[in-house]
Amino acid sequence: MNAVVERTQAASSPPCGEAPRFTEAELLRFITTEDPEETEELFAAARAVREARYGRAVYFRGLIEFTNYCKNDCLYCGIRCSNRALRRYRLSFEEILQCCRMGRLLGFRTFVLQGGEDPYFTDERVCGIVRAIRREFPDYAITLSIGERGRESYEAFFRAGANRYLLRHETANDEHYRKLHPAGMSLAERKHCLFVLKDIGFQVGAGCMTGSPFQRPEDLLEDLLFLRELEPHMVGIGPFIPHADTPFASYPAGTVAQTLKMIALSRLLLPGALIPATTALGTIDPQGREKAFRAGANVVMPNLSPVGVRKLYSLYDNKICTGDEAAGCLLCMQDRIRGSGFEPSMIRGDFIG
Ligand code: 5AD
Ligand code: FES
Repeated sequence: MNAVVERTQAASSPPCGEAPRFTEAELLRFITTEDPEETEELFAAARAVREARYGRAVYFRGLIEFTNYCKNDCLYCGIRCSNRALRRYRLSFEEILQCCRMGRLLGFRTFVLQGGEDPYFTDERVCGIVRAIRREFPDYAITLSIGERGRESYEAFFRAGANRYLLRHETANDEHYRKLHPAGMSLAERKHCLFVLKDIGFQVGAGCMTGSPFQRPEDLLEDLLFLRELEPHMVGIGPFIPHADTPFASYPAGTVAQTLKMIALSRLLLPGALIPATTALGTIDPQGREKAFRAGANVVMPNLSPVGVRKLYSLYDNKICTGDEAAGCLLCMQDRIRGSGFEPSMIRGDFIG
């Protein structure tokens, strides 16, 4: 047995739930290994670390995709502003609140408001929505995922009552970042936003895509090193999936294997992280989310958006769960979680440090 496997096994001894401090060479080795035994050991170690903190619970977040307008033009993303083929929508203030009320009926205690970078939703409008949700749902977690803004905006959102913020860094390699984004967007700015959000007091989520065009194993290593540096509370990792109306339409999707390894490594580096089994992973493999729980993921984010707009929040092709009512998705996910040996949990599921 080699030294790397021994070190992951060291991580698998609860109750401490602490991971060993991997060297860069070790991390790169795990990123690239195709050895099934080594991969299984990695997953087992990730499961043990996660179980020491969170037991077998999988936390639910109700996702509300409230606008598909976006002023950005990320080359991979289906809602990029250059995509004229897409019908655009915005949920009204009242529609957003109705989604939350539906979420409450279903038992959710966390809402995630996600959207493109839509200038219509000024700080004032966002704060108005957050305040209204906070008033009606005083003890719920409110998560925003609306992209890059300045410190003052983020501070205003926090004061209005938002607790968490998701902003994936997408790739932590500067050159790679520039291949995925138009001129004018920068990795430095993205990282700056993440540190500011953390400084303000948000529970912060970073993350990346696996298998995005031009990605090298070394880029994934940089993703892990950046996560170790930032120490986010949440880490979202999903495979890149091509969207027909983007410049990356003909690039291959990321793989399940690579995504699972990145989830497991994130778990080992950040034992307390809340890590979703992403919809993108469920899209490239019907069992993708179940596999993610086995690799250390402990969150799912079923969709609470009105069914009529689901297909329009089209980040990538063939997105699953776009035709299902929220209640159906919830029951389906709860069954899937139990079926893979985990426990669905509807509590807020805050970060355990
Ligand atoms: N494939 C997979 N994930 C994507 N995202 C955007 N476009 C795609 C795509 N084509 C992800 C990004 C973003 C999140 C909301 O969705 O990582 O941060
Ligand atoms: Fe949406 Fe299964 S999770 S239908």
